[in-house]
Amino acid sequence: MAAHRGDALLVGGGAIGLAAAYRLAERGFAVRVIDASGGRNASWAAAGMLAPVSEAAFGEQELTRLSLAAVPAFQRLAAELQDRTGQPVGVRTEGTLAVAFNADDRAALDRLTDFRSELGLSTERLSGAAARALEPYLAAGVRGGVLSADDLSVDNRRYLAALRAGAVAAGVRFVTAEVSSLLWDSTGSRVSGVRTVTGAGLRAGVVVLCAGAATGALLPVPVQPVKGQILRLAVPDRLGAAGPVLTRTVRGIVRGSEIYLVPRAGGEVVVGATSEQQGHDTGVTAGGVYELLRNAYELLPISSEFDFVEARAGSRPGTPDNGPILGEVADGLVLATGHYRNGILLSALTADAVAALVSGEPVAPVWRPFGPDRFAGHRSPKPAAAGLTS
Ligand code: GLY
Repeated sequence: MAAHRGDALLVGGGAIGLAAAYRLAERGFAVRVIDASGGRNASWAAAGMLAPVSEAAFGEQELTRLSLAAVPAFQRLAAELQDRTGQPVGVRTEGTLAVAFNADDRAALDRLTDFRSELGLSTERLSGAAARALEPYLAAGVRGGVLSADDLSVDNRRYLAALRAGAVAAGVRFVTAEVSSLLWDSTGSRVSGVRTVTGAGLRAGVVVLCAGAATGALLPVPVQPVKGQILRLAVPDRLGAAGPVLTRTVRGIVRGSEIYLVPRAGGEVVVGATSEQQGHDTGVTAGGVYELLRNAYELLPISSEFDFVEARAGSRPGTPDNGPILGEVADGLVLATGHYRNGILLSALTADAVAALVSGEPVAPVWRPFGPDRFAGHRSPKPAAAGLTS
């Protein structure tokens, strides 16, 4: 891509849009972020696991490589934001303990662990007793576990707040509006801005489309919403008085269903998440909440005594191969979307790549498998009006 001079307009104010806005402003671009929700979509709902090891899935080796590269990029950005804004982002380094509920779940966890070990990822198999020595409140029947010491987590909401504060300090401006379409020139080869639902036009030297699950409403790309319902619980003081009830992220397979519990400093525990193909619906259902609480209880019975703080749902931006989509798709239009389950983790690495693309520099080779052309044959249904999410 040729270097763009002047101003950049980011469509979407979630983790990807904010991190890219911050990086572009740092490089001297005049940057605006346009978002209707104040960034309260998928990134706000997220659990904040930075988990390239325990999210490594069969057949997704390139995504695992990208996710591993994303960790140091994330740590650099988090430290920079903390210095710049004085706001802690809440990175935790205790790792992830994956556990299995019954013998079939144990067999599934073993298969995944074999695969992850073959990739050279750090995994340590533990007996049930050894897993309970690490997390004493685990259910007595838990069938052993696997420790991924290299996985991290972050308080996603603190991170988003620090990103926004850092972006503001770097000169980024925010526009609260819903985008209805991109502004194309008459030949359909160049984008010069966006139009909002009120009909206003915003022009820019380059538009970066990081609208998450709403991307498909603006451009025919294969990004589909995958709904995740997620809970926030809190450990009451009376339970936490003798020490933390949960020290590290616990992921479990419970009768074939996956669940995670992510502890935060201050006693919050995030419990997630369902995975549902429901279009753009983000309603919370009794069944979704029941499934999460039941599975949390099976692994950590004491969780039934936690305070219930919040239930919400977000739309993950899913793609056909579960990988993000990054690249220039037309003159003046960069795409950075489709981060599916890994938006928080990949945000800093994506921001570096967007800044490189917009500046006309090469992007790190680890991004090569994630260009937009891999879906060249794809035709999405014609973009329809939809709320902007990210
Ligand atoms: N990365 C966790 C989730 O998508 O639920």
